[in-house]
Amino acid sequence: MIPVILSGGSGTRLWPLSRAKKPKQFLPLLNEKSMLQNTLLRLKGLTDIQPPMIICNEDHRFMVAEQLRELATAQPTILLEPVGRNTAPAIAVAALQAMSDGTDPLLLILAADHAIKDIPAFHRAVELAIPAAEQGKLVTFGIVPTCAHTGYGYIRRADSAKDALPPEVAAVAQFYEKPDHATAKQFVDSGDYFWNSGMFLFKASRFLAELQQFAPAIISAAEQALAAAAKDLDFIRLDKAAFAASPSDSIDYAVMEKSTNAAMVALDAGWSDVGSWDALWDVMAKDERGNACRGDVLLEQCNNSYVNAEERLVAVIGLDDVVVVETKDAVLVASKAHIQGVKNIVAKLQSYG
Ligand code: GDD
Ligand code: MG
Repeated sequence: MIPVILSGGSGTRLWPLSRAKKPKQFLPLLNEKSMLQNTLLRLKGLTDIQPPMIICNEDHRFMVAEQLRELATAQPTILLEPVGRNTAPAIAVAALQAMSDGTDPLLLILAADHAIKDIPAFHRAVELAIPAAEQGKLVTFGIVPTCAHTGYGYIRRADSAKDALPPEVAAVAQFYEKPDHATAKQFVDSGDYFWNSGMFLFKASRFLAELQQFAPAIISAAEQALAAAAKDLDFIRLDKAAFAASPSDSIDYAVMEKSTNAAMVALDAGWSDVGSWDALWDVMAKDERGNACRGDVLLEQCNNSYVNAEERLVAVIGLDDVVVVETKDAVLVASKAHIQGVKNIVAKLQSYG
């Protein structure tokens, strides 16, 4: 089994800490290790784990190499994208590279920026998924939803056991990526749906066969980008013109919504995609008043707040449910209830150029 770590996202909702030069997967948000490093460390103890593949933007290559070196990761493969084309082309390239030695390994596709509290439970779910993946299923890991979040994929399990899958694995009856709020609410209220965790287990050849069926242009771009790739130090640098020609699409829209071979294993492991400051607060250790702090922080009569001081001492008095993030060149002060407004700030900054 080869872990494939998708490390090309931009993590803009964690502005001002997460920036284009150093997006959230490279930041030590949960502990002293970065999210990418935590993703790799979490694999220890899984059976039959081969050296990992990391796929990221070429601008981040030295940061990735350094973070892997810190962990003394053996023989990693680092694939470099000249431009982001979302997760379907990234996984296609990883699958083609994994099969280039004539083997057809299982690929454990992981986001680089998730938190998982219960690592043994995560390992159990992966081990349960292995036989189904060997049978040719695209296995996802489903999370019991807690709200009508519109940023996730939703999975409805099939209730019949006609697929002869192991009992812990269910066929997927429906996969619906990022529904609108009303649809998400209907899904959650029905009690029939899980969130897609964004982690997958499948055979490399199975994924490529599905992609060939639903998005052949992605396969041909990925093949050409890899065939014309340059080997540069420890990196495989994908050919720019070929990779840029790929349609931009996620595995969720390109394959999972369309596949009739999807299956799901439930995952109850304290998973979070740490998609926003309040989600990070949620998974962090807190003091007796529910505050989670990082850096040089002094609090007086504050409750349930997240305060992160990067460069200077930050003091907060008498505020509840706030997010304060101080960095060298920007400071965010927000109420947790309005934290989704960060994306509007980022959009404004981008429109200023
Ligand atoms: N290499 C590479 N290239 N990685 C990428 C790219 C890319 O172009 N785009 C995103 N990634 C990485 C991100 O860094 C992250 O680790 C992972 O792929 C998922 O991408 P996101 O952009 O974070 O996806 P999402 O959160 O909108 O949705 C996905 O995750 C949800 C759970 O967190 C989907 O799989 C949803 O269905 C799922 O519910
Ligand atoms: Mg995400």
